[in-house]
Amino acid sequence: MPSMIFEQLFDTKSSTYTYIISSGKGREALIIDPVIENTEDYIKILESLELKLVKVIDTHIHADHVSGLNELNKRTNCTRIMGEKSKSEVIDLKIKDNEKIEIENIKLKAMYTPGHTDCSYSYLMNDRVFTGDTLLINGTGRTDFQSGSPYDAYDSLFNRLLKLPQKTLVYPAHDYNGEKNSTIENERNNNPRLQVSSKDEYAEIMNNLNLANPKMMDVAVPANLKGLTLDQI
Ligand SMILES: [Fe+2]
Repeated sequence: MPSMIFEQLFDTKSSTYTYIISSGKGREALIIDPVIENTEDYIKILESLELKLVKVIDTHIHADHVSGLNELNKRTNCTRIMGEKSKSEVIDLKIKDNEKIEIENIKLKAMYTPGHTDCSYSYLMNDRVFTGDTLLINGTGRTDFQSGSPYDAYDSLFNRLLKLPQKTLVYPAHDYNGEKNSTIENERNNNPRLQVSSKDEYAEIMNNLNLANPKMMDVAVPANLKGLTLDQI
């Protein structure tokens, strides 16, 4: 039996985590949240493990980097997937809340978790969940642009993600402090943003962060909506 492949790659420029997943060497693979500049690295890993990339997922429309979805689609003909609320013009498959995504021997369940953006989805795979920017390690995604809402984020966090089994591993789309994963239990108990007693208290925190816009935002958001490839950026 080939052993499970789970590669967590880090993009230093945007602090993005990208995940390459497969049930084993020589089998189908899936990539979550690829960064366009790192396409060649992904292709090399896929080739060295003899993987066939069949699906790529973006957890949401990213504002801080150009997605690798479209370049990977151009290179491998893989299916581009986002949740049904995505406003991308080029997605091949838009999936609904609770719908499953399958590749050889692997199943993921989509969870609609809006708040950071209105097109944010998390993906549950057995003992782990890919939380995008909805739940970060010791943080949560900002809610002040791209149709974000701290009220929706509160529901996504407290009524969806924190209700998963407590030992579920959390794999976010970013980390700025070198942390690689966490658990639902650890975030529930220690994440400073989650130590609130009401939705209004959470909104109060989120509405007063006063963060600057991401440097890449004016380039990344339109590029990700239009589905640009390397020769177009
Ligand atoms: Fe984001």
